[in-house]
Amino acid sequence: MANTTITVIGAGYVGLTTATLLAEAGHTTYVLDINQQRLQAIKEGRSFFFEEGINPLIKHAIDNKKLIPTDSYEDSIPHSQFVFSCVGTPDNPDGSSNLTYVFAAAEQASRLMAANSIYIQKSTVPVGTGERVKEQFAKIKKKVAYVSNPEFLREGTAITDTLWFDRIVAGGNDKKSVSKVMDLYKSVESRRAEIAKRAGIQSPKTDTKNDKGAYIITNRNSAELIKVTANAFLALKISFANSIAKLADQTGADVNEVMDAVGADRRIGRAFLNAGRGYGGGCFPKDVSGLIASAQERGVDMPIMTAATDVNETMPGYIAEKIKKALGDNLSQKRIAVLGLAFKAGTSDVRRSPGIKLANVLAKNGAKVFAYDPQANEEARKDIHRSIELCNSYEEALQDADAVLISTEWPEFAAIKIDVFKNLMRGTLVVDAVNIINKQAVEKIDLRHIGVGR
Ligand code: NAD
Ligand code: UDX
Repeated sequence: MANTTITVIGAGYVGLTTATLLAEAGHTTYVLDINQQRLQAIKEGRSFFFEEGINPLIKHAIDNKKLIPTDSYEDSIPHSQFVFSCVGTPDNPDGSSNLTYVFAAAEQASRLMAANSIYIQKSTVPVGTGERVKEQFAKIKKKVAYVSNPEFLREGTAITDTLWFDRIVAGGNDKKSVSKVMDLYKSVESRRAEIAKRAGIQSPKTDTKNDKGAYIITNRNSAELIKVTANAFLALKISFANSIAKLADQTGADVNEVMDAVGADRRIGRAFLNAGRGYGGGCFPKDVSGLIASAQERGVDMPIMTAATDVNETMPGYIAEKIKKALGDNLSQKRIAVLGLAFKAGTSDVRRSPGIKLANVLAKNGAKVFAYDPQANEEARKDIHRSIELCNSYEEALQDADAVLISTEWPEFAAIKIDVFKNLMRGTLVVDAVNIINKQAVEKIDLRHIGVGR
């Protein structure tokens, strides 16, 4: 398709990735936010969060004047044929989705949108939200189409997920507009080799992720429901694996062996069956609670998702109890190294991080916690217990520790030579809350190993 002008509202994890890749495909792309710090980082050619490959793309797109950071609706929206909404949809205290930002962004944009332009909802919203946003647009006299186009990228692999997507889903009443949105993605796909090269990202070689992703057109409500359903199912898989892990703990089975064999059944698949300290992040916890709440609003109970949440919430406590049992109930004289504060590997994001939850539980129980994360130390600072010391390396955290707790699945931690634990620590306890450490190798040199379901 010919190059066009786009505004992406919200320069967060999703908005900034989307805007950058659209700009890299040649479209003039405004990235609009109210957060001046985030905008300033983009102007300097970098992202406010750590994500492999994104900085060279931002820098290139800024230098080419294809990516234009702005805080002005007036300067961006009226010139744009496409307006993407990527604002946050956090949870309310009761678990339901807080749509304040969604409606505020739509309201501000609607007054300024050009006739025949398209408003695209990328934020994760409860099914039925599009209907309500469309009512906002109905108040303006211009013809503006509305398309629901949920996002599936994962933090840590955001660029790869976008360039080599499994599927792009778009739904709306106006088929021509839906097709135009798909054309935008095709313009990104057609340049993916060049973009990946600039990002320094290898194309995924395994053909489990086929080179050809699917373009799926649905009705608007289906598109909205597809997004939350996918996340709910993935969360369910994790909680299922964690339930089996608890049984494995009582029986001497190894949950990694179990899930490798169970996941070899192609009907099931191995992905997202990694037991551990449970899921965190800016999506799963609030998307699951949002689904439960939106179903309840329509008179539908979702006990299966309530159970998944309940299991997930038990996991940090379950692991903390194992540590207490191994070190003695009084943790007050104990030094514990916590490796991993990001909610998952590959990102600096600490939203609902299980690693932080665990570090804080240990600190509140009197342990002296020395924490380290390769990317998330700074982000974590505001959320950690005041007694926790942040370290500049895992070696520093491990120094004289009675126990080490690995709480994020960073490859850097999986690669630690087991001797290093023995040489640096004064104690012998290795707690692997993400099941990435070789248990036999730990036990071979007389260290004690605690995993989850192993
Ligand atoms: P985020 O909080 O990082 O970013 C949202 C941005 O929107 C913020 O920078 C905020 O300042 C800005 N904003 C809020 N109101 C605004 C307004 N009226 N005008 C302009 N800017 C405004 O959120 P995120 O993680 O990028 O998630 C965005 C949406 O995408 C959510 O609905 C989320 O569920 C969904 N999602 C996130 C991911 C992910 O990996 N983070 C993946 C898929 C879908
Ligand atoms: C998720 C969805 O995967 C993505 O499609 C959606 O667009 C946004 O939400 P994200 O939150 O970035 O992505 O991370 P994800 O890789 O899904 O992991 C979420 C949490 O689950 C992390 O805390 C991770 O450590 C945990 N996890 C994941 C497990 O505990 N076990 C697993 O097997 C997989």
